[in-house]
Amino acid sequence: RGAQPLSGKRVLITAGPTREPIDPVRYLTNRSSGKMGYALAEAARRLGAAVTLISGPTALPQPVGVDTISVETASEMKNAVAAHVQTASIIIAAAAVADYRPETVAPQKIKKSASAPTIVLVENEDILAWIGRSKRADQILIGFAAESENLLANAEKKLRGKNLDWIVANDVTAEGAGFDVDTNIATMISRDGQQVALPKMSKREMAEKIWEAVGGDTFKSV
Ligand code: PMT
Repeated sequence: RGAQPLSGKRVLITAGPTREPIDPVRYLTNRSSGKMGYALAEAARRLGAAVTLISGPTALPQPVGVDTISVETASEMKNAVAAHVQTASIIIAAAAVADYRPETVAPQKIKKSASAPTIVLVENEDILAWIGRSKRADQILIGFAAESENLLANAEKKLRGKNLDWIVANDVTAEGAGFDVDTNIATMISRDGQQVALPKMSKREMAEKIWEAVGGDTFKSV
């Protein structure tokens, strides 16, 4: 057992995709596997934290020693976050939350018919922005930015707009980065302008580097 700089800390992590139903058999989702968020949860546990992982549907086993809460929709994820956010000292949002959901969920399976159906979408609440608006000064809030262009500028916008302490920017179109793969490539940016480059590495290693960077200004107070 190594050093446990997160012992005594409660950590809240979101991971995986959300699933937004269209009818009883169909849904909208994305390619998130949950690997990045689960790696962060496992690393936090190794570092001694009490970890709550709020996860959309994934094929991953529940990490040992981590309190895992399974949800499907963005709205369910928001409710689970709301129930646990107050007691968390560090919150990391690695989930790929659907920005939109179908306005109505058809109660019966939509039948094939002569004209293709139109699915009207409405916006989901931004869970991370909501935490950012209500967080206390003693809470550390970390988001991800999944970008396909203008990586750092777009990430910086999310860092400020959502009132985060750190953002982990990943170019999800780069080979070996982003959705589903076992590796990632990212740059962390802090609210006070620090940048940490994280070259291609396994998500497990990246999770450790993320905790190391965040720890630079938080673990001291343990
Ligand atoms: O799960 P993997 O297959 O391992 O892939 C990892 C990953 C690519 C999903 C991960 O590294 C990542 O980038 N996660 C964030 C994905 C995302 O939705 O990014 P975004 O730039 O759209 O959102 C910015 C931030 O706001 C994210 O922290 C997101 O969790 C949060 N958000 C977004 C929308 C919303 N309605 N609520 C949110 O909380």
